[in-house]
Amino acid sequence: MAILQIIKEGDETLRKTSREVTEITPRIITLLDDMAETMREANGVGLAAVQVGVLRRIVVIECEPGKLIELINPVIVSQKGEQEELEGCLSIPGKNGITKRPQHVTVEALDRYGKKRRLSGSGLLAKAFCHEIDHLDGILYIDKAIKMLTDEELKELYEED
Ligand code: NI
Repeated sequence: MAILQIIKEGDETLRKTSREVTEITPRIITLLDDMAETMREANGVGLAAVQVGVLRRIVVIECEPGKLIELINPVIVSQKGEQEELEGCLSIPGKNGITKRPQHVTVEALDRYGKKRRLSGSGLLAKAFCHEIDHLDGILYIDKAIKMLTDEELKELYEED
């Protein structure tokens, strides 16, 4: 496995639309493994392939340590409720903002074996599904944030917890 370089805001690749995966090749499997390793090394909870410069509809998420979720060609099939929570992105270091996202999200995607799967998540996982799938369409959370936080505001928020 390898640690890949995460591209940062300002790189126009992040604004491009990723293409569907039509065949799960050994290269795709290696990419999934490398993405998971890269995400963990960066202490992230999600990573989209576009963030490592690969314009394919592939996402990894790990909201709970050891519970890795791999999504190929993910689509949100239902959502409900609402949450306003803090959000950040490995491609936008040093920034955080508050976004409005659904509280419950169900996605359909292929797993690494090409099997269609349906997954549901609430709270942080629902937010991660939305955030990472947005990446596949060139959308960043800062486009949707209802408020960006200064370092000071962020510190205050953590002190409240
Ligand atoms: Ni992100």
